[in-house]
Amino acid sequence: SEHDVVILGVFVADTAYRASRQPKMGETILGSGFALGPGGKGSNQAVACARAGARTAMLTKLGSDTFGDMAMETWKDAGVVPLVERGETPTGAAFIFVDDATGNNAIIIYPGAAGEIDAAFIEARADTIRAARVFVTQLEQPIDAALAALRIAREAGVETILNPAPAASLPEGTLQLCDYVTPNETEAETLTGLPVETVEEARAAAARLLEMGVAKAAILTLGERGALYHDGETSELVPPFDAGPVVETTGAGDAFNGGFAAALAEGRDALEAVRFGCATASISVTRPGTAPSMPARAEIDALLAG
Ligand code: RIB
Ligand code: NA
Repeated sequence: SEHDVVILGVFVADTAYRASRQPKMGETILGSGFALGPGGKGSNQAVACARAGARTAMLTKLGSDTFGDMAMETWKDAGVVPLVERGETPTGAAFIFVDDATGNNAIIIYPGAAGEIDAAFIEARADTIRAARVFVTQLEQPIDAALAALRIAREAGVETILNPAPAASLPEGTLQLCDYVTPNETEAETLTGLPVETVEEARAAAARLLEMGVAKAAILTLGERGALYHDGETSELVPPFDAGPVVETTGAGDAFNGGFAAALAEGRDALEAVRFGCATASISVTRPGTAPSMPARAEIDALLAG
């Protein structure tokens, strides 16, 4: 097949503001830094996946504007193949507050053109999805599009990964279409209704996700604690790797998902692929930005080799 990994998702321009705290309503505060760069979960994951060595295609809609051009340039540099429609609606953007002290973030995303991806757009590209080894999507574009694509992938025997971000409740039957789900703590709480603070609670939530229909494994990304892999038999907390001081955690989940998908597409077993995803994320947090912080394959290999 032409592409190892096909990713449906959103590109937006990230506008990242650094400050010591978030402004209150009606207040203006001085920031300490600003960066404009490529973002959007689907696009970040595609960049991570391609840089990790997989032949990766990105399915989305963009505007005919400078942010849309930024997307095309980003994918060209990373080696992502764009399967894209560009129309009248502008490309979206994200407001990202980055905490000076911790590198943690809070985000508002407006998907713009990608908010208009629908089932018909997916149906027209069904053959591309069917020919992939691995299909990945998230919840920034309309859920109907995600569902249509997961259904097509599943029927063709393509391995499916749903990164259920941002947190949302899913229509009946969605998890049955997923081989893997990769929520963070909040997203796992939203999906299961269970609290996810401790690793033990994360394990219980993962078990619940399997009961709810996830076919192969639930993988909970737990920030600085790493990722919990749970397939019903094997349950393992994969710790992060020490790749240097943490500068910005925005996009760490995307780095994980892109790396995980690339490793699965190479035929690695799922737990090995989780280790690969953790190494990818561990490098990304040592650099500012989202897509621009995704590591090259050689860097991931070096970190894994210790
Ligand atoms: O996961 C990080 C991403 O979420 C950012 O790039 C931002 O665009 C939001 O979509
Ligand atoms: Na980063």
